[in-house]
Amino acid sequence: MGDKMDTIEAIKSRRSVRGFTDENVSDEIVTKILGAGRWAPSGLNNQPWRFIIVRETDTKAALSNLTKYGPTFKNAPLLIVVFLDKDHMYNYVKDVLSIGACIQNMLLAIHCLGLGGVWLGEILENKEKVNKVLQAPDSYELMAVVALGHPIAKKRISERKELDQLIFLEKFGKSW
Ligand SMILES: Cc1cc2nc3c(=O)[nH]c(=O)nc-3n(C[C@H](O)[C@H](O)[C@H](O)COP(=O)(O)O)c2cc1C
Repeated sequence: MGDKMDTIEAIKSRRSVRGFTDENVSDEIVTKILGAGRWAPSGLNNQPWRFIIVRETDTKAALSNLTKYGPTFKNAPLLIVVFLDKDHMYNYVKDVLSIGACIQNMLLAIHCLGLGGVWLGEILENKEKVNKVLQAPDSYELMAVVALGHPIAKKRISERKELDQLIFLEKFGKSW
C-alpha cells in the first residue's frame, strides 16, 4: 500500500495493531506520520499537540509498568507520546478534540504507509507518572500514546454499530 490509498478505504480498513515485528521504523517515516498529525484541523488553528518520541528499551519498559497494556508498549519499536500543552490552550474541550483529530490522522498515515499502530489510552490512569518518566513539563497533559511498527501477520476484526442506531432524522426519536 502506497501513500495513495483512497481515503474512505483507508478509514475503513485501518485496524488497531498491537503486535509488531523487530523491524525498525526510520526517522523519515516517523516524520511523515508526525507531518500528517500536524496537518489536523484545530480550533483557531491552535495546534495544541506536542509529541515525545520514545525508542529506547529502558524508557519503553518504564512506561510499560504504568499500564495494563504493557506488552504492546514493550513490543513496539516506537512510541509517539501525545500531550496537550496547557500553556498554549484556548479551550479545553476544543483543544482535546483537535488532538483526537491529530491522533487519527497519524493512525491513518501509519496504515497508509503499510505500518500498524494503536491508540493507547489506559495509561492515562497514570498520567503524572508518565510525565515523570519522560521528564515532561507540568504544563504537558498526557492525551494518548500511539504505539507503532511493522505489523505481525494476523487477522484483525472489529465491529461497528449500524447507522440507524446512531442517527436521527430531523429530531431526536425519529430514526434514520
Ligand atoms: C481513546 C481511545 C483509547 C484507547 N485505549 C486503548 C488501550 O489502552 N489499549 C488498547 O489496546 N487499545 C486502545 N484503544 C483502541 C481501541 O480498543 C480500538 O480502536 C477499538 O477497539 C476499535 O478497533 P479498531 O481500532 O481495530 O477499529 C483505544 C482507542 C481510543 C480511541
